Amino acid sequence: MNSPLRTLHLGVGAIGAEVVRLVAADPRFRIVGAVDVDPAKAGRDLAEIAGLEGPLGVTVTADLDAALRESGAQVVVHSAGSRLEREAAPLLRCLRAGAHVLSTCEELSFPWARHPDLAQELDREARARGRRVLGTGVNPGLVMDLLPSLLALACQRVDAVRVRRVVDLSQRRPQLQRKMGAGLSLAEFEAEVTSGSLGHVGLVESALMLADALGWEMDELKEEMTPVLAPRHIRAGPLRIAPGQVAGVRQVVTGTVGGRPLLELELVMVLDASEPHDAIEIQGVPPVRAYFPGGIHGDRATAALVKHLLPTLAYAPGPVGLVTMRDLPLTPRRGRDEEEGTPR
Ligand SMILES: NC(=O)c1ccc[n+]([C@@H]2O[C@H](COP(=O)([O-])OP(=O)(O)OC[C@H]3O[C@@H](n4cnc5c(N)ncnc54)[C@H](OP(=O)(O)O)[C@@H]3O)[C@@H](O)[C@H]2O)c1
Repeated sequence: MNSPLRTLHLGVGAIGAEVVRLVAADPRFRIVGAVDVDPAKAGRDLAEIAGLEGPLGVTVTADLDAALRESGAQVVVHSAGSRLEREAAPLLRCLRAGAHVLSTCEELSFPWARHPDLAQELDREARARGRRVLGTGVNPGLVMDLLPSLLALACQRVDAVRVRRVVDLSQRRPQLQRKMGAGLSLAEFEAEVTSGSLGHVGLVESALMLADALGWEMDELKEEMTPVLAPRHIRAGPLRIAPGQVAGVRQVVTGTVGGRPLLELELVMVLDASEPHDAIEIQGVPPVRAYFPGGIHGDRATAALVKHLLPTLAYAPGPVGLVTMRDLPLTPRRGRDEEEGTPR
């Protein structure tokens, strides 16, 4: 058995802190660094930020380069942002310092089509050092891309795929409720959509990953975002929504193949959603359907995925460079990676 895998945590907000709690409790890992630009976090022990008892002996710093230099981290867990154009620079610094990168950045989950130059640069830097960089999470990363592509293995022929995810925002963090427009007027919603600050990132990446898995060449990929208006008064924590105000968002990505809309991913994130669920429907031979009542919890599951994939990323056999959720052996190998794998 190798010695514990040394992790550095870049971005310790809601997701990063949840990952820290999981990783800190697991003897396969040792946290050696934490970086966050939030001035309220720098200088404090990571345990305090993550809500853990007792110090972890890791002080949060805003200086990524110093943390990389001093920590000897083997894997950087990145949970700082969604947009690859902004996140690529720190990720490249991590790779150049010799660390693998495991990130919840949505646009990193399948960046080849939308960010080919950045994807190539990340791939090149990682390959040059025998490292891996992977974008993961529940969505993108699991429910709307990897899971349907796995289920499609049961089909002799796939005619169309539809995935619908309905999330009850009332059960989620206020930051996420705000990001989905809850409480805005229609005019405010439209202004924020135009400025690009609203809504879920990653639906397009899921569609691209899924189409790639199915071998579909899409001639068009269309994304729509519409507000869901509150039909009545809604209370969610401190939020009070009047009828007609925005209660959430509906986003749909439709992929057209040979002129026909064969792929549809629909995400509804709304306060007081009735019957939250995840549903996958594959039309084909045979048809396959999967339904997850309540849906898979985005934050809990994303943190779990990150924890499970840490040893995979560092030790599992397979390609190095920029990888996607489809490139690595993903089901837990119960310690075999640590025992058989070459520490990278
Ligand atoms: N794929 C998925 O399924 C999935 C699921 C959940 C979350 N995510 C994504 O994961 C990311 C993290 O989520 P979150 O909810 O934890 O966000 P969050 O609460 O905003 O936390 C991000 C933290 O990182 C800090 N930060 C931002 N840029 C940084 C940088 N360059 N260097 C160091 N620290 C930096 C932020 O500081 P400031 O607040 O001062 O900026 C904040 O403390 C988001 O992009 C989210 O959309 C993906």
